[in-house]
Amino acid sequence: MIDKINDLLKRVEEFAPKAAAEVEEFRIKVLGKKGELNALMEEFKSVAPEMKRELGQKINALKQAATQRINDLKEALQDAAAQKAVAVDDMTRPGAAVADGTRHPISIVKNQIVEIFSRLGYTVAEGPEIEDDWHVFSALNFPLSHPARDMQDTFFVEKASNEPNVKDLLLRTHTSSIQVRAMEHQKPPIRIVCPGRVFRNEAISYRAHCIFHQVEGLYIDENVSFADMKQSILYFAKELFGETATIRMRPSYFPFTEPSAEVDVSCNLCGGKGCNVCKGTGWLEIMGCGMVDPNVLEASGIDSKKYSGFAFGMGVERIAMLKYGVKDLRLYFENDVRFLHQFDSAL
Ligand code: PHE
Repeated sequence: MIDKINDLLKRVEEFAPKAAAEVEEFRIKVLGKKGELNALMEEFKSVAPEMKRELGQKINALKQAATQRINDLKEALQDAAAQKAVAVDDMTRPGAAVADGTRHPISIVKNQIVEIFSRLGYTVAEGPEIEDDWHVFSALNFPLSHPARDMQDTFFVEKASNEPNVKDLLLRTHTSSIQVRAMEHQKPPIRIVCPGRVFRNEAISYRAHCIFHQVEGLYIDENVSFADMKQSILYFAKELFGETATIRMRPSYFPFTEPSAEVDVSCNLCGGKGCNVCKGTGWLEIMGCGMVDPNVLEASGIDSKKYSGFAFGMGVERIAMLKYGVKDLRLYFENDVRFLHQFDSAL
């Protein structure tokens, strides 16, 4: 019986048909109801019990090999036939379309934000994701051991001591670090937007993630006022959320700005009447901002008597959630193409 099995296996392996019909014929002959494999199964019933194990395994392997080979051959011959038909039928037929990818919604919104500010004369500045304590905290007027450092749960890469220390290496918790680098290397006027990834040790939920994206901005020149800031942000809000958008500012606190404010935009979903996205208030929080604290200017070598400026910062995921009415921030990180394909944009 072993010989019969081996012989059939050999024929299966060597079978080289020219047309799909031949494959079907072969299938019936081997795998069909009255085919050779079933005949072997019949014979198998009467083999000695001590042989059953080995022969059983061999027959199974044969069945698998035959099924696989026949399916492969069928597919190959069908493809070949289809190709031949196309080639002969119509040489001018357009080629198969290649599906284009789409930009990630976070990139789309980030690009929109950057583009709007570029119309106001802002240029893009970038910086490292692994930063030192100086650029993320100390230069931004976070005193050593100040509780404000706890506002942003930091991932430390290398901690020099238990005290916050300039030698610490950490993942940046905001892109304000880029602004510090710009102030150190550029003379005013400075007008930059700083897009980038930031990291905070937060539990992942529908509204927070430990990695997210920010766009922050900085404008420093002579005689820059709070009114300039307000007008720039109003322009931005109208460009992003539509002509009817309005903003309001609430007093807030950041170590690096004084005075500081939190900016709300009128809810674009309910038109200010109140809905579940704006929790009935008619307002959505979109960013923090403020006049750069003179200590911050001095720390980077800018004369705070001569120059003043404002800074602002926003989370791209948050803006994208508000803009697209997405309720769960995690969708932006899962990269399910069914979600991603819904965002088509020229930007
Ligand atoms: N850096 C702040 C943050 O990450 C945002 C901000 C930037 C606030 C600039 C005011 C001015 O939360």
